[in-house]
Amino acid sequence: MKGNILVVDDELGIRRGCQRALEPEGYNVETAVSLQEARQKINSFSYDLILLDVMMPDGRGMDLLAPIQTQDPETVIIIITGYATVDLAVQAIKGGAYNFISKPFTSDQLLLTVNQGLEKRRLSLEARRLQAVEQQAKALAQAKEEAERLSEFKSRFTFIVAHELRAPVGGAQSLLRVLTRGKAGVLTDKQREILQRVETRLDQLMVLINDLLDLAASKTMAADETLPMTPLGPVLREVMSHFAVEAEQKQIVLHYEAPAESFVVQATEHGLTRIFNNLVGNAIKYTPVGGVVSVSVAVVPPHNVAITVRDTGIGIPQDALPHLGEEFFRAENARQSATIGTGLGLSIVKHMVASFGGSLTIASVEGQGSAFTIEFPRCNPG
Ligand SMILES: Nc1ncnc2c1ncn2[C@@H]1O[C@H](COP(=O)(O)OP(=O)(O)OP(=O)(O)O)[C@@H](O)[C@H]1O
Ligand SMILES: [Mg+2]
Repeated sequence: MKGNILVVDDELGIRRGCQRALEPEGYNVETAVSLQEARQKINSFSYDLILLDVMMPDGRGMDLLAPIQTQDPETVIIIITGYATVDLAVQAIKGGAYNFISKPFTSDQLLLTVNQGLEKRRLSLEARRLQAVEQQAKALAQAKEEAERLSEFKSRFTFIVAHELRAPVGGAQSLLRVLTRGKAGVLTDKQREILQRVETRLDQLMVLINDLLDLAASKTMAADETLPMTPLGPVLREVMSHFAVEAEQKQIVLHYEAPAESFVVQATEHGLTRIFNNLVGNAIKYTPVGGVVSVSVAVVPPHNVAITVRDTGIGIPQDALPHLGEEFFRAENARQSATIGTGLGLSIVKHMVASFGGSLTIASVEGQGSAFTIEFPRCNPG
């Protein structure tokens, strides 16, 4: 059906004529002989177009304009006017009718006017739809802006709180060291044991504070911040030697493999160290005694370098994979295998890698092991 049309006219000839002209063109045409009948039809149905006689036996067609527009503001109204009622037609157009057609009219004249009217309706509806889409887009943009503002506020708040906690916790650590080193008098074994436990707790608290600081810093890093050129090799070798003792204690073989050439990436040394300390630290933490942890560097043509930290550990359950890197997320098998951990390490890694223009991909099979690969654009030609 091309459109629903209502013909409101008391003259049978006009009603029939309109039906004869319009129905073969694929329009659904209904008729009303009085304003009262027209009102009933308008109230129960939304027409695309209404042909409306200005002079009706029970009133003026004009009186229907308001009810039609209330029902559907985009319904096109075409006034049917006789020679003597042109003034009324002009008034009706001022009141919102789209056009008028003068009696007597031919089928072609009627079709032309109706088609123009329906084209106008189509365009109005399209404009309205676009306006709605535009408004939705605006609302979405506003919501996104608000979410970003809140997220930045959260990061800044975290940064300030963590920063303020650092000094008193650091102070307490120093004071405690005076006691545990016996520099403030001799301690009983029991006292020393208790104080050492307090010291361990404070060390953990300091790690958490530093994690929160790094996380907030990596999130608020400005996109245009200029980063230094940092050679990757020395950072990785430093990280490997940092974990040598821990790996040996767990009888884990630590393996490092890199091509002879050196790679320079655009990143801070502190950031790179944090990234690989987290990844290698996790690999050792989540690999049982006797396993293997390997770090390998490889060229990814044309301009990237990839560093993969691979382990033969507990792996990551399939359903946990999408959540890795969410703040404080720890998979169930990880909680069981290592009770200590806050679940901040990978979020720091994720944000830092992103702020250095790199990418992180994770592959893992539960019970077999995991591989964390970081890809950076390299600054020196390979
Ligand atoms: N090498 C790995 N093998 C298995 N699971 C891992 C590995 N690395 C990360 N995960 C999973 O990802 C989670 C998040 O890692 P993340 O480093 O953020 O936290 P964490 O090591 O538990 O605690 P911390 O904040 O002290 O680093 C871990 O709890 C664990 O479920
Ligand atoms: Mg970790």
